[in-house]
Amino acid sequence: MKIIESPRAMQQLAAQWRCAAQSIGFVPTMGALHDGHLSLARAARAQCAQFVASVFVNPTQFGPHEDFGKYPRPFERDCALLEAAGCDVLFAPPPSAMYAAHQPAHDSSGASQTFVEVAPLGEMWEGAARPGHMRGVATVVAKLFNIVRPDCAFFGEKDYQQLKVLQHMARDLNFEVEVIGLPTVREADGLALSSRNVYLNSEQRRAAVKLSQALTTAAALARAGETSVTVLSTAMRQVCEADPLVNVQYIAVVETESLMPLDSLNGSPARALIAARVGETRLIDNMALR
Ligand code: PAJ
Repeated sequence: MKIIESPRAMQQLAAQWRCAAQSIGFVPTMGALHDGHLSLARAARAQCAQFVASVFVNPTQFGPHEDFGKYPRPFERDCALLEAAGCDVLFAPPPSAMYAAHQPAHDSSGASQTFVEVAPLGEMWEGAARPGHMRGVATVVAKLFNIVRPDCAFFGEKDYQQLKVLQHMARDLNFEVEVIGLPTVREADGLALSSRNVYLNSEQRRAAVKLSQALTTAAALARAGETSVTVLSTAMRQVCEADPLVNVQYIAVVETESLMPLDSLNGSPARALIAARVGETRLIDNMALR
């Protein structure tokens, strides 16, 4: 596996591959890899001639009081996991290669001035809870798409709104890439794998399972014929509130493409979304309702 730090070098290699008609599969990540990331890696490896992964802890998608500084960065381990997953190139740029350093106030000519906003899709739910987050995600992924020039890019349904925002962005801005969503990988008890799970102590880890339990409760009610979103939301809230360590930020039942809230499950395909703090750690999860 080759490690490339320079955006220009990555672009040149991608251009060579495209000339040779080799398809490029891309898995963007912030590292601290787990089996969720590796399920995306397996799909990219299987479907494309060349498989590129990126590891870049993107500063612009973190709020000022969020965990950018303490986000785990086990780079050697990530390299070994990607190599074992058959990755051809790891693109791992330093922040200065992705964002020009901030200039003094009287000369902002070198700093980035272009951002990607996907609205209203990116402004609801996570966008409302974390101002600037979705803009940071959409902008860095647009940059990564221009650098890696993938034919297919693989994202997890774990971050369902992120997946929908990026699919919309690719369509709206005519990126020549298919944005593919893959199912959430979970622990045996249902907790969605996340790089942030390492922040949880054992008591919090036990409490964190309430998020997926709330979602499976809603999914089971929906399967049994319940159509009232009030009933489903109340049931999810009750599951979470059974544990005092779980502090719900939002619970929603939404239409699967627009992410607009639904009143009832009659007709449109639906997804339940949940965000909660467990101690200091913010967790999100979601599930399809049939
Ligand atoms: P990160 O949190 O590292 O996630 C990278 C990819 O792995 C995302 O597509 C995410 O949805 C997926 N993923 C995370 N947990 C998963 C799980 N349990 N099952 C399946 N897939 C999972 O998401 C980001 O990084 C960043 O926002 C990024 C897109 C890289 C832009 O900076």
